[in-house]
Amino acid sequence: MKKIAVLTSGGDSPGMNAAVMEVSRFAALAGMPLIGIKRGFNGLIGKFRPQDSYTEMSMDLALDIADLPGTYLRTARCEEFVLPEYQEMAVNFLRKMNVVGLVVIGGDGSFQGAHAMSKLGMPCIGIPGTIDNDLEYSETSLGFDTAVNVCVDAVRAIRATSRSHDRPALVEVMGRNCGDIAMATAMSTGSEIVVVPEVQNWDIQDVVNRLDSLIRRGNTRATIIVAEGAYKTMKPFDFNAFLEPYTQVFEGEAMNARRMGHVLRYKTASQVRSNVIGYIQRGHEPTAKDASFAFEAAHMAIELLKNGIGNEVIGLKNGRIFHMPLDKALKIKPQFNKEVYELINSL
Ligand code: ADP
Ligand code: F6P
Repeated sequence: MKKIAVLTSGGDSPGMNAAVMEVSRFAALAGMPLIGIKRGFNGLIGKFRPQDSYTEMSMDLALDIADLPGTYLRTARCEEFVLPEYQEMAVNFLRKMNVVGLVVIGGDGSFQGAHAMSKLGMPCIGIPGTIDNDLEYSETSLGFDTAVNVCVDAVRAIRATSRSHDRPALVEVMGRNCGDIAMATAMSTGSEIVVVPEVQNWDIQDVVNRLDSLIRRGNTRATIIVAEGAYKTMKPFDFNAFLEPYTQVFEGEAMNARRMGHVLRYKTASQVRSNVIGYIQRGHEPTAKDASFAFEAAHMAIELLKNGIGNEVIGLKNGRIFHMPLDKALKIKPQFNKEVYELINSL
């Protein structure tokens, strides 16, 4: 019997399990059994024992995992998958199992793997799964909405203590190269300052000036949202030289939330406190928005594979689900929303 396979790859994101469950339901409707591939592309190249590499996805199992954060199928890097011999091995493995199509849930790296396998004759469909929302072709990806909601809850909780003590708060959110989580969090919480990796050579002195001006205008508990990737794109700042007169120095170490908080604290003479939200952003059950995207994306993926169509990715535009060629999607350059960035920082 012709089968479908599904795998999750890259960083886990809320909604991956929901998508696997929906793929399972729509595959069953199409009369095609589903194989769950474990640990990303590793499960296709014989790296682990068979029981650690793949599993039959029973409906009972799929329904059990649907609401859970993380990914039941596990996820892992598979560095050798850039090599054609491993991609061929993966396609042969799937063919031997009677698999006629693979759903790859992940980010741009995972989509490269899916593209390579599609070119070798195994139809693959990509569903975007990353909290960072760094795939430009789609306005959202599984987990982004959930991660933003986690950040909004956290900022509101941090605000309670900021407000009580008249202290500004610096809050670091995730986003390796993309400031979408930071911008959406800032907008949804009325945060006064946002710092993102898309702005090259941003100056910490500008953040200080802005915070100073807010304090002078009577706002003693402003919130500064910083995307973790932004430290890489800041104008060089000698943190060690700066702190020397004040306290202990940590030679040769990069900027981070705690240090940035110190700089703001000393330069504005306010009691700035730093917070890093971290992995909690990946650890919640998916919001309704992420879960309904999983539903529609899974349906479209199975419809395509049922008709032998591969090398496509699923996305959302103006709230509507769509698909497009994988290689075209990967070529779309990220567009930074400078207007929103300036608006947040202007109030
Ligand atoms: P994401 O999918 O979230 O971008 P990664 O960049 O870590 O995450 O990529 C996930 C996996 O995708 C890698 O570990 C590797 O197995 C596979 N991959 C990444 N780049 C390529 C590539 N150029 N060709 C084939 N496979 C790739
Ligand atoms: O899922 C994307 C992301 O959350 C990035 O924002 C972050 O830099 C990265 O994953 C960290 O993931 P890990 O620590 O698992 O490599």
